[in-house]
Amino acid sequence: MACTVVVGGQWGDEGKGKITDILAEQADLVVRYQGGSNAGHTVVVGGEEFKLHLIPSGILHPDCTCLMAGGTVIDPLVLRDEIEGLKARGVSCDNLRVSYTAHVVMPYHKRIEELAEQARGRGGIGTTLRGIGPAYTDKAARMPRPVRFRDLTDAHRLRELITGQLEHKNIIIEHQYGQPPLTVDEVFQQVWPAAQEVSSYATDGHRLVQDSLRARKRIVFEGAQGTFLDLDCGTYPFVTSSHPVAGGACLGTGIGPTAIDEVIMVTKAYTTRVGAGVLPTEDEGDAGQLLRDHGHEYGTTTGRPRRCGWLDGVVARTAAMLNGATSIAVTKLDVLDSLATIPVCVGYEIDGVMLDIVPSWPEDLEKVKPVYEELAGWQQPLGDMRKWDQLPSQAQAYVERIAELAGVPVSIVSVGQGREQTMLLG
Ligand code: IMP
Repeated sequence: MACTVVVGGQWGDEGKGKITDILAEQADLVVRYQGGSNAGHTVVVGGEEFKLHLIPSGILHPDCTCLMAGGTVIDPLVLRDEIEGLKARGVSCDNLRVSYTAHVVMPYHKRIEELAEQARGRGGIGTTLRGIGPAYTDKAARMPRPVRFRDLTDAHRLRELITGQLEHKNIIIEHQYGQPPLTVDEVFQQVWPAAQEVSSYATDGHRLVQDSLRARKRIVFEGAQGTFLDLDCGTYPFVTSSHPVAGGACLGTGIGPTAIDEVIMVTKAYTTRVGAGVLPTEDEGDAGQLLRDHGHEYGTTTGRPRRCGWLDGVVARTAAMLNGATSIAVTKLDVLDSLATIPVCVGYEIDGVMLDIVPSWPEDLEKVKPVYEELAGWQQPLGDMRKWDQLPSQAQAYVERIAELAGVPVSIVSVGQGREQTMLLG
């Protein structure tokens, strides 16, 4: 492992946090490259559960530096609470850094998103309401100058930037949504106490990454969300506003594509999605409920029940291509323990034509009929197994079929939440 990207191969919640934590053991630097507090990464160590939204999943390894890169968006209130929560549990966070250039999620972003989603009603995106879309929108708009992480070190500058932003935001809040405007004082008062606490983590993120590359340090780039939530490659418009795909690691951190040695695509043994948008293998009946119950498929960030369905081989193949995946980490294989047979989608049929990759036009994807193959289940608990050879032949065949469908070998198999419930395949 020199430079490894960990990327979600589906619609998020694949278990990237656990895989990043494991790789962090051997890493010098873990870098979150996109997204913000919309993410929810769970890491379980010695039966203790840590839920991380912003902070990279390497934070539990004190010798590993953790950077939130310029491609992320940071809510200072969430960051402060997350740091305090970790410190209260004995995690120092001295190894945390945040890039100067990361954009800041401000209270007006959350307010505008809440009003916009309410106005859209059932036609909404079903976002996490963490202000992510509006913060990235301001980043792309460039003027008036949005707040970036380094701006949090200077009260005068922060107040000036809030003043400039509210001149525009209040037009939307008052005139588009008929709601009372926000005042500069209230926004400043909300943010400044948290800003004072978190701004000491600010650093030149580009320099940190470039210096680490030059020193041949081992770096893990941690993606949030998943391939099909990518703004460009996902099921638009039901996507997030950043770039979870492996290429996003280049943009979000300022490295060239040739710096990446490995791309580990994390793929759950079945499929889930939160929020609106197409999900070809969704099962809205008892089977979906079984996956939800056994997999504890409720959002880490919002608590919403996740939509569940069978593994989609077309999604796996397409994601492997979009990410240039070099291997796959299959997670939550144990969730399927009780099933006698397991359907796996091996192709899509649309108007009598078979497709082997996901069509890029989402309305076409809505029309596809998944073609299933039934694989034999293993009907025994996998949670205590530690080696590939201990897995029942049916479970091995299931994992091998995923590799075959994706066209990429499997390097990691996870059979439970704990660090120890992980098989690293040679
Ligand atoms: P946003 O990222 O809050 O703008 O939400 C856009 C879409 O991405 C919604 O469907 C969310 O449910 C989904 N989403 C955002 N973050 C995550 C995540 O970490 N896991 C799964 N879905 C997510």
